[in-house]
Amino acid sequence: MKIAMIGTGYVGLVSGACFADFGHEVVCVDKDELKIKRLLKNEIPIYEPGLDVLVAGNQTVGRLSFTTDLPSAVKGADAVFIAVGTPSRRGDGHADLSYVYAAAEEVAKAADGYVVVVTKSTVPVCTGDEVERIVREARPDLKIDVASNPEFLREGSAIEDFKRPDRVVIGVENEKAREVMRLLYRPLFINETPLLFTRRRTAELTKYAANAFLATKISFINEIADLCEKTGADVQDVARGIGLDRRIGSKFLHAGPGFGGSCFPKDTLALVRTAEQFEAPTRIVEAVMQVNDARKGRMADRIIEACGGSLQGRTVAVLGVAFKPQTDDMREAPSIDIVGRLKAAGATVKAYDPAAMGEAKKIDAFAGVVWCNSSYEAMAGADALAILTEWNEFRALDLGRVRRLLTAPVIVDLRNIYTLEEMREKGFTYVSVGRPAVAGEVVEVAPPLERATEQG
Ligand code: UDX
Repeated sequence: MKIAMIGTGYVGLVSGACFADFGHEVVCVDKDELKIKRLLKNEIPIYEPGLDVLVAGNQTVGRLSFTTDLPSAVKGADAVFIAVGTPSRRGDGHADLSYVYAAAEEVAKAADGYVVVVTKSTVPVCTGDEVERIVREARPDLKIDVASNPEFLREGSAIEDFKRPDRVVIGVENEKAREVMRLLYRPLFINETPLLFTRRRTAELTKYAANAFLATKISFINEIADLCEKTGADVQDVARGIGLDRRIGSKFLHAGPGFGGSCFPKDTLALVRTAEQFEAPTRIVEAVMQVNDARKGRMADRIIEACGGSLQGRTVAVLGVAFKPQTDDMREAPSIDIVGRLKAAGATVKAYDPAAMGEAKKIDAFAGVVWCNSSYEAMAGADALAILTEWNEFRALDLGRVRRLLTAPVIVDLRNIYTLEEMREKGFTYVSVGRPAVAGEVVEVAPPLERATEQG
């Protein structure tokens, strides 16, 4: 099958490379000439494990190519995927569909025969109807079908998610389009991945419902974590206790600083707006967003309190700024609010992240942060350590060394990656999420000049 993928952002690039790996002939299109030039040299613009190898391998054998020339990519294609951005529209929070509609029109004008135009971008329910209208108006002479095929890729494990998904959701309005889509996903289908064929509007809504439901689980467990803290219960045990019930499931019940990223915040807001528009309000999703928004700031207060209520003249070591591990993506990362507040409270922030420091440096909230080359460098001479992202390399810190490097043995772990027992044993004051705090040894913090300056 011949595929054109419009948009080489996160979703387009991963999907294009994976379809090529399935054996299809894929041409990825982007308006950004520099990006295309780099991709032609196998330079990947995003951090995603395994993507470099996949792109290079498929480009070498000629199944994957990159161009800025949309018409040439569309000609002769069996399917054209639209994978352009749908950011929140400034002012009203609706998804901005201008890039999707512009791409649909360009594709239709370039088509030279029957083709299925597939929206891969996350688009509100009924967008496919409008795409179909645009396409038909541009090319009344051609038979073009419009399908919806939402993605469920997680950053950091996108390739695995594409190749071994729990399911593929495909919204089509007729048998012909269904057959094209079935052939595209044939390698998965023969591996017994459920291909769920629905009407187009249903597929569009399924994507938002999935993300809103996952976000609901997170806000729910975060509120339960707050209640655990007040009552001395342990949220990790509660999560295990409810998650073993298969009706609930154990995933997405990790309490933390709140969800971020390019999808959940944007998609919950867009769903709420769509629901208002159709006069079927989604009150639960509204509450999920409110809980999440309020949470990020409160996490900074937790660090301030662990440091005795004031950060004036204090230094906080921050480990992890990406919204989650295995990505350099900083969009809606809780660290943006948290670090901003720590600085406003008078703290010097020393920070380290294995992948996201380059992106973080572009964000105003991080101005003045001292960027470090390792976890230990960040904590040398700091008065407290705050873990904001659960990168694997933070899970096995040499706690003896941490203890020596910090001026006071205070750890605020917003991802619950250490046990209370090991913290108690090592004498740390340890504050986590939804678990009882550990009171460590009281250490008088020396004036800054007298501090040890052991380097990581
Ligand atoms: C998400 C969806 O999982 C994916 O299906 C969709 O296509 C895009 O959005 P992603 O944003 O990459 O993927 O990350 P995900 O792993 O889902 O995490 C989202 C946020 O929720 C992160 O900030 C993460 O830290 C947080 N989270 C996740 C929790 O706080 N607790 C959890 O239990 C799970």
